[in-house]
Amino acid sequence: MTKEYQLYMNGEWTSSSETVDVYDKYSKDVHATISKAGEEEVERAITSAYEAFHNTDFPPYERYKVLHRVSELLQEKKEELAQIITAEAGKPIKQARTEIDRATQTFELSAEEAKRITGEGVPVEAAPGSENRLAFTIRVPVGVVGAISPFNFPVNLVAHKIAPAIAAGNSVVLKPASRTPVSSLKLAELFHEAGLPKGFLNVVVGSGSVVGNQMMQDERVNLYTFTGSAEVGLKLKQNTGLNKLVLELGNNSPVIIDKYADVKKAAETTAQKAFAYAGQVCISVQRMYVHEEVMNEFKEHFIEATKSLVVGNPYDDKTDVGPMISEEEAKRAEEWISEAKEAGATIVHGGTRNGAQFEPTILTDVDQSMKVVCEEIFAPVVTMMTFNDLDRVIDEVNQSNYGLQGGIFTKDLNRAYKAARKVEVGGFMINDASQYRVDLMPYGGVKNSGWGKEGPKYSIEEMTEERLVVMNLE
Ligand code: SIN
Repeated sequence: MTKEYQLYMNGEWTSSSETVDVYDKYSKDVHATISKAGEEEVERAITSAYEAFHNTDFPPYERYKVLHRVSELLQEKKEELAQIITAEAGKPIKQARTEIDRATQTFELSAEEAKRITGEGVPVEAAPGSENRLAFTIRVPVGVVGAISPFNFPVNLVAHKIAPAIAAGNSVVLKPASRTPVSSLKLAELFHEAGLPKGFLNVVVGSGSVVGNQMMQDERVNLYTFTGSAEVGLKLKQNTGLNKLVLELGNNSPVIIDKYADVKKAAETTAQKAFAYAGQVCISVQRMYVHEEVMNEFKEHFIEATKSLVVGNPYDDKTDVGPMISEEEAKRAEEWISEAKEAGATIVHGGTRNGAQFEPTILTDVDQSMKVVCEEIFAPVVTMMTFNDLDRVIDEVNQSNYGLQGGIFTKDLNRAYKAARKVEVGGFMINDASQYRVDLMPYGGVKNSGWGKEGPKYSIEEMTEERLVVMNLE
């Protein structure tokens, strides 16, 4: 049965004159109908966030209590939320359950961090003429946070924006991805039940061109936190003046398989991490650079591991690879593969599409100029290239415009550490795939992969200002 949802603002559920349908990405049925925000609703949401921030006392221990309660509620409603993720994002149910467990951690970590926001003493008396002065820094919330979240982790990537923002004492206007907004509205329900003071979370569902643009132009928003494409990230940067920005953008994650790797383990791990959630994860393995001495062995194990993945119905507990978010996206991936084929690439596995369902696909004979290598494919597609010289392959890896996470498999620690120092990324994994993330770690990229870090402790640094206080005690 189709569920109806309203917008959440100023602690209340509000309808608007228009609605938008959210589809089940597997069955294509309407999963939910949602009130759609226009200019008036965005204005109300920002006003409510602004007034809450400026007029309501919300001390750290209260923030802790609310966030802690949300994490408990998430576990209590785990199955309901996981089913929603599967419906609106097409994510296999076992991965959706993992996402809820991770989000529970994200809320709990943020709750804990709310109790630890602190500055430091500054020894100003060490400067001549500053005798009898006491100085220290405090961290103050930035104010109104404008959060724009992506479709691929509709609960946990939203959690990574709103939980630290609230832990830090900010209020939030959230624009969830138009294709997966139900999860955010469910999170708003949990916040409501947990006793969040009104106005600290406002959820506006609508198009990027209306909601996003209006949020971008409103001077009452003090910081924007965005996860999505580099193209939209750049637009935000160009349109938000001197405001603070946290941008988590794309990647075409590289993994080096060295001749000293445990080849079977490397193949099994990277196959899992290339195709989970149909490759629609910013750190999905996309570019594999395999030492020529182990290429045949690696490829064999990789194909075997790929064949063992269960493809199909995301509601089935066994499924590893469900549909992509839309048929258009699957067609785009198909076009990129055709282009690569015309330029000499070989499909050694997969390559077929059925609607939005794309088979896990492995390409060899590729080069760095092909889109499947140099752009972010965001589909269940990996490319394999060979190398014989570590320094040279590190240069090739660094030719990418992106730099979120990468990795190397090798038992030689000198080679591993050399790669860790030289590969231009925000996070580097040794003997693991690029797609390793736990929610407490700093997460964020360099180059076109973005600015700033997520992970509750690190987000709170981004979402607070350091203020110096000097007391003249004379
Ligand atoms: C992302 O796609 O950037 C999020 C990856 C994750 O949280 O595992």
